[in-house]
Amino acid sequence: MAARAKVDTHVPQPLNDNVQASYTLPARFYTDTSVFEDEKDAIFYRCWHYLGHESWLRNPGDYKTLQIADERVFVILGDDDELRGFYNVCRHRAHQLLQGSGNTRRIVCPYHAWSYAHDGSLQHARNTDKMPAFDKTQFCLVPVQVEALGPLVFVNLDPDAPSLSSQVAGLADDIRRYIPDFDRFEVAEEASFGGNYIGANWKVVVDNFVECYHCPNAHPAFADLFDLSPYELVVGDLWSRQHGPIANPDNAAYPFDASSDVKQGVFWYIWPTTAIASLPGESNLQVFNMLPMGIDRTTFQGDWLSMQHESPDSPRRHYFMDVLGPEDAALCESVQLGLQSRSYNQGKFIIDPDDSGSGEHGVHHFHRLVLEALDEDG
Ligand code: FES
Ligand SMILES: [Fe+2]
Repeated sequence: MAARAKVDTHVPQPLNDNVQASYTLPARFYTDTSVFEDEKDAIFYRCWHYLGHESWLRNPGDYKTLQIADERVFVILGDDDELRGFYNVCRHRAHQLLQGSGNTRRIVCPYHAWSYAHDGSLQHARNTDKMPAFDKTQFCLVPVQVEALGPLVFVNLDPDAPSLSSQVAGLADDIRRYIPDFDRFEVAEEASFGGNYIGANWKVVVDNFVECYHCPNAHPAFADLFDLSPYELVVGDLWSRQHGPIANPDNAAYPFDASSDVKQGVFWYIWPTTAIASLPGESNLQVFNMLPMGIDRTTFQGDWLSMQHESPDSPRRHYFMDVLGPEDAALCESVQLGLQSRSYNQGKFIIDPDDSGSGEHGVHHFHRLVLEALDEDG
């Protein structure tokens, strides 16, 4: 890999362990292309990202693709029931191999029809049998790491990265504690929160996901759905959890049956790009990626999971996707514009003395992780 100049991570006002004394990440971290370039190696190509629910990958040959910054990968289930991940790049002349999701007996490149087995080995490359020196074993697909957290499949481009289970030890059980059906969801359906993409840097989108200080005024219906006074925000090493333990069945967001399985809201963030949510009503889970399509463009896409197929126009789904999503997207897009203003550099984290869920200590946690990752890199 070409040597890269290390990005300047100087922060004028402190951003340290002391949340009260800290200021937010400087604006240029959200707008400077050299920071974004550095984040690719320091964060995106080194960390675990959600690829999809296991139900996309049930039968041999089932595959699912994912774009991580400038890289494209896919995961495929082999005949031996092994999940394997690879760069989605043909070893001949670099054409992309697979699109979206589906099932294939062999991985066939659309360009010159080289074909690969599920284990990434090159099976057939036309006319190479007439080239005695050609060695198929030199042209296997390049692997990436794959690991499941319960039924959620993650990928990591760094062959030396520590396992996901070691990085977020206890998280799967934490999710099971709140979501007893965690291992039983059957339906995977793609969903996008806030439109095809949000016009903001990926960190603006994460900042917005990991705090509910904005909820009472920016999401009036959400604030009617949950009693925000007992709302909690707990920060772990590489993840955080928001929990609204009391939901009101008769509310302005969407009414739900008071006898439903789920009467709470839980939201997990997993460093760096995964968002997990469960809403009151029938048992459900949403798992999303917050991945960059550019410095100021971020997808919020993933799987909507339920025990029985939940209609796309169910009131809950309508509220989450068509009301809450656009509200959050508009907030993020306005922030991105403000971060480009000469008038703004660093803000403050607003913290409750008791670290309640209306504070911004989750944002502080995230900003510290970003700064550490960029400082460690290079
Ligand atoms: S680029 Fe894939 S077969 Fe030529
Ligand atoms: Fe929000």
